Amino acid sequence: MPRDTRCARRGAAPVARSVRLPRDIWRREIRGLAVTPEALAALHARAFTTPRPWSAEEFSGWLVDPLAFLLLEGDAGFLLGRAVAGEAELLTVAVAPEARGRGLGQRLVSRFLYQARLRGAEVAFLEVAEDNAPARAVYSKAGFTESGRRRGYYRSPGGHPIDALVMRRVLADGAAPPST
Ligand SMILES: CC(C)(COP(=O)(O)OP(=O)(O)OC[C@H]1O[C@@H](n2cnc3c(N)ncnc32)[C@H](O)[C@@H]1OP(=O)(O)O)[C@@H](O)C(=O)NCCC(=O)NCCS
Repeated sequence: MPRDTRCARRGAAPVARSVRLPRDIWRREIRGLAVTPEALAALHARAFTTPRPWSAEEFSGWLVDPLAFLLLEGDAGFLLGRAVAGEAELLTVAVAPEARGRGLGQRLVSRFLYQARLRGAEVAFLEVAEDNAPARAVYSKAGFTESGRRRGYYRSPGGHPIDALVMRRVLADGAAPPST
């Protein structure tokens, strides 16, 4: 998965995984909900109004990655994470526009931290566009702090470079489980 497809939005062409299996194999039952790559891509496209949402093919690749995990808030939001070698990355999080501001984003990030610890991660990290104020607010509230910057990592719809901030949170002090 190219770096530019993570968490936020840069406009390079998607790279699909090379292995293709029948579509039914991509289905995952999580908390009784059937999730398809198409449904995730559709919600992603609604959540990200600027380039570029992930394609169903990209979600297909992540859903069969044994190190990746998907967290759902009904059909209003989801978070995709990955934990490996003591580190957990928040790959993307999206809440439907009409469901924002009700705490779903914070809840998803809280659940991500909890799952990261369950999977043995000691550190969690993510990348976020500098101008993405709502996402940065959610991450800061969850204890992430800025640990780096990738200059000009993203492009605005008008073609202006936007820095990516790398945010990090140490989990050794314990990540609180979700409240509900
Ligand atoms: C980021 C996102 C997941 C947050 O989801 P959400 O369900 O609205 O988040 P919450 O309701 O838990 O928290 C919203 C918080 O964002 C903050 N916020 C919202 N809009 C804001 C803005 N324009 N500027 C600054 N902070 C803002 C508020 O502090 C709010 O917290 P509060 O309720 O305590 O006031 C959602 O906005 C989204 O899907 N965005 C598009 C996709 C995206 O950018 N994903 C992250 C990529 S790195």
